[in-house]
Formats: sequence, C-alpha cells, structure tokens
Amino acid sequence: MSYEYILTEVHDRAGLIRLNRPRVLNALNVALMNELADALAAFDADEAVGAMVITGNNRAFAAGADIEEMAPRSAVEMLTADMISGWDRIAQMRKPVIAAVSGYALGGGCELAMMCDMIVASETAVFGQPEINLGIIPGAGGTQRLIRAVGKALAMEIILNDRRLSADEAYQFGLVNRVYPVDSYLDEALRLANEIAARAPIAVRLAKESVNKAYEMTLSEGLAFERRNFYFLFSTEDQKEGMDAFLKRRDPQWKGR
Ligand code: HXC
Repeated sequence: MSYEYILTEVHDRAGLIRLNRPRVLNALNVALMNELADALAAFDADEAVGAMVITGNNRAFAAGADIEEMAPRSAVEMLTADMISGWDRIAQMRKPVIAAVSGYALGGGCELAMMCDMIVASETAVFGQPEINLGIIPGAGGTQRLIRAVGKALAMEIILNDRRLSADEAYQFGLVNRVYPVDSYLDEALRLANEIAARAPIAVRLAKESVNKAYEMTLSEGLAFERRNFYFLFSTEDQKEGMDAFLKRRDPQWKGR
C-alpha cells in the first residue's frame, strides 16, 4: 500500500512508520492521521510484525495538528466531521507501539507520542502542549494522559502556560522511557521493538491490554481483569513452552499460540 504523508518499512519484526511532511514539521492533518491508523492496523494484523515504531525526522516528531487545516473550521464542522475520531484508532492497536521522538513533539505531536505504549527520545526532543497560544486546549488526550504521566502540578504548567520539557526533563518526570543521542535514538527504538517482538506474542498482547486497563478501571476491577488474563495464558502453548524451557534450562521457542 502506498501513502502520501507517511513512509512504512519493516526492520526484522518491527514495523516502522515515518511521518513524512518535513516542510511543515510533520503537522498532523486528517489525511495523515488516517494513513497512520491504516498503516498501524495493517502491521497489527501482520504476523511477521511483532511491534511498531512511529517516528518523524530529527528536527520534528510532529509540531502538532495542522493549524492551517483547522484555522477556518467552525465548531459544528469540527463536531460533524469528528476530526479527532481517526486519532482514537492509534491507541487501539493490540501490539506494542513505540514513539521514537526527536525535535518537536508539540500539541497533537505530544499527544500522539503519549498514545503510544513507550517513548524513546533523542537528546534534542522537546515536549509541550502549546495549544493555549492558539486560544484552544489539547483535544487528543493531552489533558488526560499528561497528568497520568507527569502528575497534576507539572501538567497544569505545561497545558496552561506552555511550559516545554527537554528530553532529560521528560525522562526525569517519567514521560519518556529512554534518551539517546540523535544519531542512535531510532536504532534504539527499533532494537527495543524487536526485543519485545521476540517475546511470547499472546502474553505481550495481554500484558499491554492489562497495563492500559489501569487507566480505565478501579483497582479491584483492574486486578480482576489482570487475573483473568493471567489464568487465560495457562491455556496457551507458549505458557507450557516457557515453563518447560525454564525447567530444562533451554531457550523457549514461542509460537504465538
Ligand atoms: C501547520 C505548521 C505547524 C502546525 C509548524 N508549521 N507547525 N504548520 N501546523 N502545527 C509550519 C510553519 O508554518 C512553517 O511553514 C514550517 O512548518 C516551519 O515552521 P517554523 O515556524 O518556520 O519553524 P521554527 O521557527 O523552527 O519554529 C518551530 C515551532 C513552530 C516552534 C515548532 O513552528 C511552532 O510553534 N509551531 C506550532 C506548534 C503548535 O502550536 N502546535 C499545536 C497545534 S494545535 P512555512 O510554510 O511558513 O515554511 C494542536 C491541537 C491538537 O496540535 C488537537 C488534537 C487534534
């Protein structure tokens, strides 16, 4: 499948998607977001792929939703076109998705990174929610996901007063998993994706699903959800294989069954 605004590649068992509107710092228009969701869904359904990486370029992961596209819209147009519904699909992937972020991750760019399961950053990454400067607020999860990542005090500063976080600050506050030099962050993100892709696929899928349920559920509901997934895994060949391999001191051979 060929796309206009993104590029796709496969590196071993990692599906890589590059946002590709460099002239406008990868501003996220509706068509790009739909292509991104389609490409992720295709990798999600592809047995040869075990995890996905979304990246931009060294200067910008994405400088936000496309302001030129949004500027003339009325509230009714935004509502009836349901402009952000395409974004919801990104967070619905069953396989792990890693954001490899260098340069600007602002507004919708920061929100897109936070929709991913992990963030690997370059030393030049800058995270922020500058929507307040445009007379709006984050609309794709920024007010909800940021507070869960960095806490209320800092989230308020970032969203109400355009405080930007450097890569090191983002690491210190728990927004990103790892920080690497700009010439290696993408390779490291792909390495991480391939490490996870080499693990027991059904366990990885249910682990991701269970962790994400912590966003949605009370503790007791989440514990019950986790326990059902835990018990369910004892019906898989991979559980038998993993425990047999441990007991026989050999490497497991995962089948994804
Ligand atoms: C459209 C954008 C853009 C954006 C940059 N460009 N960001 N176009 N939408 N979000 C374009 C510029 O207009 C310019 O085009 C080109 O990219 C290069 O940008 P410059 O501003 O010239 O670069 P620089 O001086 O280096 O400044 C970089 C920057 C700045 C600090 C990132 O571009 C900036 O502040 N961008 C907007 C960031 C922002 O407000 N994001 C939130 C958007 S709202 P030309 O044609 O002039 O060369 C949002 C809501 C999400 O994301 C809600 C969910 C859907």
